[in-house]
Amino acid sequence: TSFLRFVKNCNMHKFDTVYQLFEASYGKPAISVAAAGRANIIGEHTDYHEGFVLPFAIDAAIYFCAKQGNSNAAEIISLDFDEKYDANVVPIKGSWQLYVHGLLSDLKTRFQIIATPVILFGGNLPMGAGVSSSSALCCGLIEVVNILYDLGLTAIEKVKWASEIEHGTGVRGGKMDQYAICHGQAGKAMLLDCRSLSHKDISLPETWQFLLLNTGVKHNLAFTAYNQRRQEAEDALAELNKHETGLVTLRDATVDQVNHWLEKGSLYHRRALHVVTENKRVAAFELCAQMGDIRNAGRLMNQSHESLQNQYEVSCEELDFLQQQAAKCNSIYGSRMMGGGFGGCTISLIQEVDERDISIIRQAYLKKFGLLPDYFTVHPAPGLVHYG
Ligand code: GLA
Repeated sequence: TSFLRFVKNCNMHKFDTVYQLFEASYGKPAISVAAAGRANIIGEHTDYHEGFVLPFAIDAAIYFCAKQGNSNAAEIISLDFDEKYDANVVPIKGSWQLYVHGLLSDLKTRFQIIATPVILFGGNLPMGAGVSSSSALCCGLIEVVNILYDLGLTAIEKVKWASEIEHGTGVRGGKMDQYAICHGQAGKAMLLDCRSLSHKDISLPETWQFLLLNTGVKHNLAFTAYNQRRQEAEDALAELNKHETGLVTLRDATVDQVNHWLEKGSLYHRRALHVVTENKRVAAFELCAQMGDIRNAGRLMNQSHESLQNQYEVSCEELDFLQQQAAKCNSIYGSRMMGGGFGGCTISLIQEVDERDISIIRQAYLKKFGLLPDYFTVHPAPGLVHYG
């Protein structure tokens, strides 16, 4: 189907495979759901400061087939990990089973439902690549139980629940990923205000496309400095509030305030400066999209990378290298690290896939890091899809 438009597809599960495997073992599923991953064009590490982001749900997803079980234990299987959830074992940090664990215990405490569903899932969403496979997993599982147990959840309730389950695994993430997945529509990006948790649809010029290059460096946010960065930025806000009043989050601060009150080049200054300038870049990007100004849109993405690299310090050598290589290519207008950072993918703004440019970047990366990076284009797609 047109749902899958990877330039280079990975050898992973598709909807048909998940469906057939389910049917062979359990009969016809009662429900089938897809939960997409997400890309973020610009606005990074701003969501948990109630700032602005510009993500979209992508055309790669995790597929779930499910029905109510009749045994007294849940039967939940990940095809990608080739593992079955075991309620008697406390899941290890970073494991997919932690999310299932969170979901089932919330069902018990909040909804008084002892759920024993049968769920089989697998997909073509690269894991640990910064396309939010963990949020896709949470949102997909929530959608499954939402229908199976008739919970009547709204999109925002799903976003909040998914985010809480993820917080339960130790990462103090924002809500951009879950929001993009629960609201994603074909052909639309969204300008999300993370304070009001509402968005404006953004129709990008038809010729604009996004290319992801995967460093292959797996990042697990829980084991990185993600929480530390958040804390440092919140401490920077506390410092600002010694001089200013009414700054609820860094979203409320201006560039002038940051430059005036925080010592230039200090840790607090750099962390805060990233957030306030990144929020401005999101607004500027929206204007570029409206005017079809791809050159300036690309420049904003490059500036975003520079800020994430030097001010917020969430990049890594591999991401910086891919970004620098991309910046040299005529077919690429701008490029930056995407998502939490410390690994994962870069996102680049292009009009056409130029295989020569991509090959130059990949070969250079191979020479330096001994690995040929995967690449694929992503397109705005529906975030949660029901089949049948
Ligand atoms: C991860 C988190 C998001 C967001 C990004 C950085 O993807 O899950 O909430 O903070 O990092 O923009």
